[in-house]
Amino acid sequence: MLAGDLGRGVGVIGAGYVGLTLSVFLASKGVRTICVEKNEVKAGKIMRGVSPIHEQGLPELLQRVVRDGMLEARTEVGDMLERIDTIFITVGTPTSSDGAPDLTQVKEASRQVGEAMSTSRAATPLIVVKSTVPPGTTWHVVRPIIEEASGRSCGDGFHLCVNPEFLREGSALQDTMNPDRIIIGAKHSEAAERLKKFYEALYHPSKIPTLVTTPANAELIKLATNAYLALKISFINLISQICEATEDGDVGVIAEGLGLDPRIGPLFLRAGLGFGGSCLPKDLRALRWFAASRGLDASLFEAIIGINRAQRLRVVEKAESMLGGLSGKRVAVLGLAFKPRTDDVREAASLEIIRELLSRGAEVRAHDPAALDNARQVLGGSVTYCHRVEDCLNGADLAIIATEWSEYAAIDPSTLKSLMRNPLIIDGRRILNTRQLIEAGIRIHTVGLHSPSA
Ligand code: UGA
Repeated sequence: MLAGDLGRGVGVIGAGYVGLTLSVFLASKGVRTICVEKNEVKAGKIMRGVSPIHEQGLPELLQRVVRDGMLEARTEVGDMLERIDTIFITVGTPTSSDGAPDLTQVKEASRQVGEAMSTSRAATPLIVVKSTVPPGTTWHVVRPIIEEASGRSCGDGFHLCVNPEFLREGSALQDTMNPDRIIIGAKHSEAAERLKKFYEALYHPSKIPTLVTTPANAELIKLATNAYLALKISFINLISQICEATEDGDVGVIAEGLGLDPRIGPLFLRAGLGFGGSCLPKDLRALRWFAASRGLDASLFEAIIGINRAQRLRVVEKAESMLGGLSGKRVAVLGLAFKPRTDDVREAASLEIIRELLSRGAEVRAHDPAALDNARQVLGGSVTYCHRVEDCLNGADLAIIATEWSEYAAIDPSTLKSLMRNPLIIDGRRILNTRQLIEAGIRIHTVGLHSPSA
């Protein structure tokens, strides 16, 4: 066990993907961990060892660490400082109405931590901001709130670091266990050194590239990373539009050729329906807002967002032209999650496409192996939710692949022909064998592929 090197224990505020995964991982490494989640239902589930999120490997490990007494959940910070010496702040920073990140939860967590410190005799706790925040937030917003609420000063009564998180949904636990880099932002070298040592003990014996910088640079690295990933996706999606308008054009081949250039690399060049989820769209908006608020030209960010939206609308336009109008037509949407291996539908391409289909008079049936319940909460009764792919396809005039779940790639052409009223497909994620389907007499449009017949 490594717990000795990792201190007495750790507190994690906010049990979203980042906070819960981190908590479970720390507890599995023998660190006594207290997870603070203000949502009572979620906290209750964690206390019972039940995962409130769909994430590979998490339910089993959560159950184990709760059973072993290594992880506990509660709704308030309270007196936990008596039992821990490091606190990670992992609360959400959604976009507010003016495009700026809403820091309400970060401020509230900072206040609670400060108040807990004011009555605690714990010496110099280390506070680590993992929430994604605009540059300057940790030093100019979090620090003063903690200082005022605690009566202690940063660097003396407590230490403060920024430490952005780079895990992906769907592989959150794996990414937390094997981070590709650690970024630490701190004004005081003692604070950075403490967090560095913590991670050295946690990940020992492997050595993970670690960059120590200022809090604002660390905050900006996180936003810039997600904006750059989004840039790559919008870039390849714009190229995919060009491919569709070019004889023999195939964006898959273009991406392969691009990826062979070591300066570009092959990752994040999968064309399709663009990026969704709780991070890339939100962080791009945050960076756009931040640049604009400094009087800078944010048009590149604007363009990335614009291409992403256009990519989805183009699919609906295509559906309309393939069917000669959408009114009264039955459309099967396969895939609702923003990407496979998650039940998360936040900013999913499917939602935007479904809303547009409905507004043009189509009848929508939808399937997803994991995200039906979450989609129902957003779309309500406007859509027929199907638990079986076959029910979704039954009697459909058109099917759209909106998420690249592997089971959709395995759909047999004869199944499509026998179930659909009109075997017509739009492959928004490029997972079907286009040639095989055409040979089977199915009309198909594949995003990024020139198809004179579709
Ligand atoms: C993203 C980043 O990849 C993580 O490093 C980061 O920690 C996380 O945001 C966060 O800030 O919390 P995530 O939102 O889980 O992770 O999802 P990604 O795997 O990045 O995919 C985002 C979207 O881009 C998905 O809708 C996916 O379908 C789409 N995508 C991805 C493409 O359309 N093409 C690609 O080549 C790659």
